Order: sequence, then C-alpha cells, then structure tokens
Amino acid sequence: MEYTFEQYKTAADYIMERAPFAPELAIVLGSCLGPFADELEEPVSIDYRDIPNFLVTTVESHAGKLVFGTVRGKRVVCMSGRFHFYEGYDYEQLVIPVRVLKLLGVRALILTNAAGAVNESYHPGDVMILSDHIKLTGASPLRGPNLPEFGPRFFDMTKTYTPELRAVARACAANTSLTVHEGVYMFFTGPQFETPAEIRAARLLGADAVGMSTVTEALTAAHCGLPLLALSVMTNMAAGVLPQPLTAEEVGETAERIAAPFGAYVKDIIERI
Ligand code: HPA
Repeated sequence: MEYTFEQYKTAADYIMERAPFAPELAIVLGSCLGPFADELEEPVSIDYRDIPNFLVTTVESHAGKLVFGTVRGKRVVCMSGRFHFYEGYDYEQLVIPVRVLKLLGVRALILTNAAGAVNESYHPGDVMILSDHIKLTGASPLRGPNLPEFGPRFFDMTKTYTPELRAVARACAANTSLTVHEGVYMFFTGPQFETPAEIRAARLLGADAVGMSTVTEALTAAHCGLPLLALSVMTNMAAGVLPQPLTAEEVGETAERIAAPFGAYVKDIIERI
C-alpha cells in the first residue's frame, strides 16, 4: 500500500471542506489526554471513517475522530484516537495521519502518550518531554518509494524534537504541580509490555521511558519538516522495576488521574507556542 501525493491531498481536501478554520497546531491525544477534545471551544468533529484514504482506529479507548476547536485563542485540530503498529497496520500506513495534518497547514505538531518509566528516579504521574528517541525495531514508516512533495529520501533526525518547543514546555513546567523531566523514549512494538530484561537493556542504551506509539509519527514529522513537541505521561514503572506485574488497568488508572493537570499543562504550552 503506497499512496500517491494526490491521495493524501484528497484526504486533506475532504477535511478542509468541513473544517471550521485552517488549524495552526495539531495535537495527537494519547490515552493520557482522552477528555481533552471535549474541552475545546466550539468543537467540530470529523470521523476518521468518513475521511477518504484515512485509517480507522481499533483501540477501544481511542475515539477515532478529528476534532477542531480553539484552545486559549489558538486554532487547533486534535486527533482523538491514534494508530499503532500493534493494531496490525504496516509501518508504511502509519505515515498517513501526520502527512494529512501537514497538508492542513499546521505549523507544529504535539504528540502525547502514556509510557512506562525506565528511569528509576521517575514516578508514575510524572511527565517527560521527549528530547530524542530510540527505535531498533526493524522497518521504517518512510520505507518504500519516496514522495518528494513531503521531503527528501534521506533526512536528518538530529533535531526531530524541536529545541524551541521543548524550551517552551520546560518553561511551562513552572506552572504545573506535575513533575516534568526531559528524556529519551524508546519504541517497542507491543502489544505485549516489555520483559524485565528488555527494560534493563533499554536503560543501558540510554532510554528513560518506553512506549508503543509516537515514534512512527515523529519520523513522519521529521521527514516533512514539521516542528514537533512530544510529551509522555509515566503511567507506570516499566517491567521489572517493581515486584508486581504490569496491567493495562494500572496504565488506565494513572492516565485518568493525570488527565486534568496534564491537560492544563498542554493548554499552557499551546498558549505559548
Ligand atoms: N510499556 C510500553 N508501553 C506503555 C507502558 C509500558 O510500560 N506504559 C504505558 N504504555
């Protein structure tokens, strides 16, 4: 499955015909920001399943719609529901959402996610601003014929997580009760959580957190030159750090507990970028 540039354009044109405005910023809502889209002012939503050439979510906790609205005076579009490799998509399909967001004309992308804390000085409920990532799992979403309309065949990854946006997120940390770190996210495909040995290896390699999303989207943003900020909520200590097994319930409970202060932190960032 390789899309032509025109197929991406068809998706973006469909959205623009129904959107209330051209958005300035795009935000991908991870499981830690579920209710965020409900708090947008004058929201307008478009179901993924109605958008030609888009993807459809299979994760229950992810709604599967684009929601346009304003946050502190900024025109934003939220992806409420995202696409993960573990759902069965090919890596190559996972470029679709970010490329369509790029064609909507946004000037920056904010990715949010739930992650497991590898760094033992982190705690559940802490936030991590991504400074970089590690992905050692095979293929790339940018594999296959290159579309030069989006970016070059070989592209730089040295400033994928835009330094200026990270500086804004660091500055906003002063206004939240959450503890905010900056660190490295390591991608694992899931759907299984990692083994304790994988987490020890991740720590040796320099990872501070692990998760099953975000990196495919970050690679797509880097390819098309879209400024990027990515934020992880530590929903749990990663496998083997604590004696008890990991559960999806624990991840969901922390995500729910943190959603309000994390949402406020993200709104603060949006206001300042
Ligand atoms: N591992 C991978 N993904 C996750 C985790 C984890 O520990 N917690 C939340 N998402």
